Amino acid sequence: MRYFLAIYVLVIVGAVSILGVRGSFSTKPPLEVFPDMDRQNKLRPQAANGFFASGRTSQPYVAGTIARGAPYQDLPVNTGRISGTTNFVSTIPVVINESLLERGRQRYDINCSPCHGANGDGKGITTKYGMVAVANFHDSRIVKMSAGEIFDTITNGKNLMGSYGANIDISDRWAIIAYLRALQRSRLAVADELPENERAALQ
Ligand code: HEC
Repeated sequence: MRYFLAIYVLVIVGAVSILGVRGSFSTKPPLEVFPDMDRQNKLRPQAANGFFASGRTSQPYVAGTIARGAPYQDLPVNTGRISGTTNFVSTIPVVINESLLERGRQRYDINCSPCHGANGDGKGITTKYGMVAVANFHDSRIVKMSAGEIFDTITNGKNLMGSYGANIDISDRWAIIAYLRALQRSRLAVADELPENERAALQ
């Protein structure tokens, strides 16, 4: 009976202390058992910020940013195909200059040479570790292949080759193709195309 009374009193005290204060107000912060990331360090848009030179938190878009909802442009440079058709463009639809080729060389060495080899003969390092049937860019079939089809191969992959569209952005794909053409040319040039003095040195 004593225990019953003690428990009875405890239950009443407990119930009143939990339920009895409902509806009353307090200026003290609430007890937080699980804070659920209610408070966190973050930058608020438009707020001042000493970290950036502009003194602002919101920064301008990075050059080349395209809005998610921007209209898709059916242009050869984006698709490798003649606008409005499914036909591949035969040539590279961007301006080719030395800096593009240099960029292409660098991107080729990173992304393609492990399989296709530094000179494009299909004997990259991965062939020593079981990669098979890697295309040789000096095969006449690939020499004749349109630039658009190579663009499509990089973007979507082909047969055993995986796609690199997610890793290599569009301008770099064309840069790689320009360099790939230079690699092919390096084996196709004839002596008559050399400048006078270099032709003499060759003979
Ligand atoms: C992981 C290895 C690997 C990498 C990296 C790779 N390729 Fe390939 N590539 C292949 C293989 C394997 C084939 C042969 C595919 C087949 O016909 O089964 C191939 C085929 C090709 C072809 C010929 C497609 C055809 O129609 O026969 C082209 C062009 C090509 N690759 C370009 C590239 C370029 C450009 C890069 C760099 C951006 C690249 N590849 C990176 C493995 C690779």
